[in-house]
Amino acid sequence: ATGPNLFEPERRNSVGFDLFDVTELSRIDTARDTDHPTCAEPLLAGPLLGTAPVRAKNPATGDVIGKVVTATAKDVETALATAKPWATPAAKRAETLRQVADLYEQNFGDIFALLAREAGKTLIDAVGELREAVDFLRYYAVQAEKLDHPARGVFTCISPWNFPLAIFTGQIAAALAAGNGVLAKPAETTPMIASFAVRLMHKAGIPAAALQLVPGEGRVVGRALTSDPRISGVAFTGSTATARQIQAAMAANLTPGAPLIAETGGLNAMIVDSTALPEQAVRDIVASAFQSAGQRCSALRCLYVQEDIEPAFRKMLIGAMNELALGDPWALETDIGPVITETARADIDTYIANAQKSGRLLHALATPTRGNFVAPTLIRVNGIADLDREIFGPVLHLATFKASEVDKVIADVNATGYGLTFGLHTRIDTRVQDIADSVHAGNIYVNRNQIGAIVGSQPFGGEGLSGTGPKAGGPNYLPRFTADKVDRVAA
Ligand code: SER
Repeated sequence: ATGPNLFEPERRNSVGFDLFDVTELSRIDTARDTDHPTCAEPLLAGPLLGTAPVRAKNPATGDVIGKVVTATAKDVETALATAKPWATPAAKRAETLRQVADLYEQNFGDIFALLAREAGKTLIDAVGELREAVDFLRYYAVQAEKLDHPARGVFTCISPWNFPLAIFTGQIAAALAAGNGVLAKPAETTPMIASFAVRLMHKAGIPAAALQLVPGEGRVVGRALTSDPRISGVAFTGSTATARQIQAAMAANLTPGAPLIAETGGLNAMIVDSTALPEQAVRDIVASAFQSAGQRCSALRCLYVQEDIEPAFRKMLIGAMNELALGDPWALETDIGPVITETARADIDTYIANAQKSGRLLHALATPTRGNFVAPTLIRVNGIADLDREIFGPVLHLATFKASEVDKVIADVNATGYGLTFGLHTRIDTRVQDIADSVHAGNIYVNRNQIGAIVGSQPFGGEGLSGTGPKAGGPNYLPRFTADKVDRVAA
């Protein structure tokens, strides 16, 4: 522990939520883990029959924090057979979603505890995540009141472990706001947070027939819920490879034109030219690459620094990396928590070991021996073309470029086929415009970090291999969950 957390809370547009209360935190800290819910929730299907319970583990310690029962084929069938659109007026739907937001805020202590223990989120990340979740609920509530198109039917929502509350909630809130029913499949590694959130949604008044939690593995539950003709559309956030499988399953089985709303991976770059303010750029790079242990699809993977400033800049960056504290996500001074699973850690460790063997490792911090920790790491590359896949952890690649090579850098970035976030640090106004016009990226950030898009003001989503659009937290998202129907035609 080196002192106060280096990442400041992001500004969010949610209201009514102040920084946590220390008394409340200590209450939760001493709560028994077994007080937290499991996924053996009574759904319409009744208590899930389930396969043998699997154990949910704390990624920072490996401790078992609960038992999780996954849905059987029979559970999935019952969920599909009983699911119904949310047939209530838009004003009532909006009011109920706002009540869910209020309940989330009132239960912040338990939510933070679950985010830390099941997903390894630091407190700063947990604060940001809760704010994003309530922003989605309130933003889509407002959008629902403006909609004049009917619901499509029942949506399958498949969400990732890296935002087990915010993205889980955002997908569901959008589908429900538009009047659909939802079958929600949370990530295999974070079902307890999902279960807690669904309890609050039901408590706020969302009917059980309109929202059912169907936990389980993607290849069983996810596959069944995306290949059944009773489903009217799918919202998915996860890997590009899984999105392709879902698309194929939907094409073979669902009504033609049933929407797939997919947010997928990225190979995100940033350019720092010689006019940038180095201290600011370093701070923004550290946040972009290492906050959330690099487990954001928006995270910076490949940093391009102009050749003439690179040696001094690299030294500053390594100095800043050395200040990062790895450890217990529940500790206030921790900057970097664990990665999600032992498998993820082993995969990233192998990648780093290979970089070391080939002499490309520039810097790595010491790693705690217990828990799934990966220390922030810096690896030398010639350019983004050297990255053959997205490494979902705190691993940053560093390349250099000459002043005459900016166009080539952008062409290389575009050639990856991904297009999620892009960062630029420069004081040259025309360069900002030129790059914004030519780079393929859904979200471009100038002279700031490139993570933490804010609902409503920074709609989030990519292009190409990074997703289908429309952008989450933006005005075009909700209409995608509705049927474009004309029921009155003027003479
Ligand atoms: N929306 C998140 C961000 O902007 C990524 O999923 O960082």
